[in-house]
Amino acid sequence: MKKNARNSKDTVLVTGGAGYLGSHTSVALLEAGYNVVVADNLINGYEENVKKVEEITGASVTFYRADVTDEQALQKIFAEHSFDAVMHFAGLKSVKESFARALDYYHTNVSGTATLAKVCNAFGVKKFIFSSSATVYGENQVPFTEHMPLKPTINPYGETKSMCERVLQDFSLMNPEFSIAILRYFNPVGAHASGKIGENPRGIPDNIMPYITQVATGKLERLHIFGNDYETPDGTCIRDFVHVMDIAEGHVKTMEHLDGGAVVYNLGTGKGTSVKELIYTFQQENNVRVPHEFAARREGDIEICYADTGKVNREIGWRAARTVADMCRDAWQYELALMKEKATLLEASRGGGTFIDMEKKV
Ligand SMILES: NC(=O)c1ccc[n+]([C@@H]2O[C@H](COP(=O)([O-])OP(=O)(O)OC[C@H]3O[C@@H](n4cnc5c(N)ncnc54)[C@H](O)[C@@H]3O)[C@@H](O)[C@H]2O)c1
Repeated sequence: MKKNARNSKDTVLVTGGAGYLGSHTSVALLEAGYNVVVADNLINGYEENVKKVEEITGASVTFYRADVTDEQALQKIFAEHSFDAVMHFAGLKSVKESFARALDYYHTNVSGTATLAKVCNAFGVKKFIFSSSATVYGENQVPFTEHMPLKPTINPYGETKSMCERVLQDFSLMNPEFSIAILRYFNPVGAHASGKIGENPRGIPDNIMPYITQVATGKLERLHIFGNDYETPDGTCIRDFVHVMDIAEGHVKTMEHLDGGAVVYNLGTGKGTSVKELIYTFQQENNVRVPHEFAARREGDIEICYADTGKVNREIGWRAARTVADMCRDAWQYELALMKEKATLLEASRGGGTFIDMEKKV
């Protein structure tokens, strides 16, 4: 039976809630007793994820198929609910694709954010949490701290994120009652421990973890590690991998601490893990092989990227709790669950499942 969220708690609009980070954050919100409304145009998300969120939490979610650049569609949604906060995940996120589709990226990410903020302003919604990215730091000295000058020019995607930050900061100057948190994620990976939701990209994955899991299942032949001659202990790039549920819980905690003005926080673990270490941990933790080989460096990749998490630790008490082994295990459990689900669907479409049921009935 579906339970309602605690009456005393607020309602949060989660844009992009049918996608990877938005669905996990919806779980964290519902588990903390908030009501969740999702708006997503499904360009890269799945309505099924919203149903899975309901299954995990036993709570119901209102879903709208809507585009965040469509002001009228947003106005209709805002008119039907009384939102206490908005978490804005909806956007286009592929660095590679952003070179070929720069205008789409500026339109969806920058215009979408400005349109949503405008509608929040019109309806008196005063809390806004924005999905930014460590990409905005570009080539900088590690660990990356929130007050560093940004250098997002390495790709159009990074530029859009930096522009969105600027749009929101300017908006908060205009309206000091409006509370904004800009959360710069490092490398979110992993999945909910239930195996029901996780990272499920369309086509060939851009991000490393779904690539690893698909190589491990044999769906992809091998993983290419771009560069083994970096100035790092094992020669491969270093990243700050952070569990998606830690990120999700970071959103709830941030929202509960919003108190006027604009704040910026890094969401990472503060520890660097090399690409090679990630693959070895994945193999060891899951007892599975991930065939891999080294390839030339990829243009635009920075050598080392990890967060200084001091500010978010001190100011809101958030700290990533899960390990790289947890990230590898949960991502693999999700991939296995996904494969099982696909096999069941295939069998059913061939008449397998139905045939057995009919036999039993006869
Ligand atoms: N996953 C990462 O590694 C990462 C890292 C840093 C920042 N981010 C940011 O976090 C946010 C969420 O990322 P994700 O990994 O969950 O991506 P995702 O693609 O899984 O989720 C984004 C969701 O937004 C929806 N969407 C896209 N354009 C839309 C539009 N115009 N209107 C309504 N819905 C729209 C998509 O259908 C999708 O469900 C993005 O803004 C991304 O830039 C992600």
